[in-house]
Amino acid sequence: MKTTIFSTHKFEKSYLLKANNDKHQLKLLEARLTEETAILAKGSKTVSLFTGDDASAIVLEKLNALGIKNIALRSAGFNNVDLTKAAELGIKVARVPAYSPYAVAEHAAALILGLNRKLIRAHNRVRESNFSLNGLTGFDLNGKTVGIIGTGKIGAILVKILHGFGCKILATDVFEDKILIEKYNVNYTNCETLCSQSDIISLHVPLTKDTFHLIDSKCIANMKTGVMLINTSRRGLVNTKAVINGLKTGHIGYFGMDVYEEEEGLFFEDHSDDILQDDVIARLMTFNNVLITSHQAFLTETALTNIAETTIYNLDCFEKQVLSGNEVSNN
Ligand code: NAI
Repeated sequence: MKTTIFSTHKFEKSYLLKANNDKHQLKLLEARLTEETAILAKGSKTVSLFTGDDASAIVLEKLNALGIKNIALRSAGFNNVDLTKAAELGIKVARVPAYSPYAVAEHAAALILGLNRKLIRAHNRVRESNFSLNGLTGFDLNGKTVGIIGTGKIGAILVKILHGFGCKILATDVFEDKILIEKYNVNYTNCETLCSQSDIISLHVPLTKDTFHLIDSKCIANMKTGVMLINTSRRGLVNTKAVINGLKTGHIGYFGMDVYEEEEGLFFEDHSDDILQDDVIARLMTFNNVLITSHQAFLTETALTNIAETTIYNLDCFEKQVLSGNEVSNN
């Protein structure tokens, strides 16, 4: 099946080609899907999209006019696709529901450790032959209270990792996981209590209208002074300007982020020759208690293999017009 792959990154190309094994006719494009680039899908029946691609109603209408029937997302999240419009146009959407929850949970743990033990600052100092330890004091994770917002696949793995460090764990989710309660002493509570009692808060809920700006100035005011906030989930969960205010007053002690509200057109790309136009991320980068990675939590060999194999499987199912089990819809 002829498929245009938008936002093909160098890091995933060899995995996609290996999984495809010349089965489907893939047109690998570096371009991000936007209103302007949709035309590049001409001649294909299917497009494959990454998290930064724009599949809003207007773009879907353009794809529909070109004869696109299917979208194979190379991600678990699908908030960049207008599912109502896709259904209206009869465009099928499939995703990669899980590729490696370990990759993301382990990256969240890496951000926690990196921030706590000030690893980036320490490394930069040593490279300049500054072996002073002043300003590098961390804290023992053992005995600290960690709040996990969302104990699905990723949140549950982070619970297990942090349990190994001797942390007390609070959680909030619409469903309580009995195994986490019984084996890892997780205490489920509401978001307010979790925020007011946790030393570290890590976000693992999807972005929905209920979770949009879940972390806002009111929520931050309710947190412990010096709290560590980690977002490896979705950009819109956090009101970044409210976090900056929290960092300026010292109310937020540490902020680790792998996803950013305005990441489209910024993350995943080399802008080292450009003048940075985004004043919000520029301000965030001035804090030495902020650790930013550009949506790399998923980036492990295991995850890339799984993403490529599931995407090719989804293309197989589109071609044979059978269900893959990976369909997404608003129903
Ligand atoms: P999951 O679906 O297994 O878990 C999500 C959990 O959130 C579920 O237990 C669900 O009940 C809970 N939830 C949903 N709405 C809620 C609400 N309003 N209040 C409380 N709990 C709620 O998803 P998984 O695989 O654990 O992924 C979590 C998120 O991580 C994804 O939505 C995605 O946005 C993000 N992610 C980030 C990646 C990265 O590279 N940074 C890669 C993969 C996923």
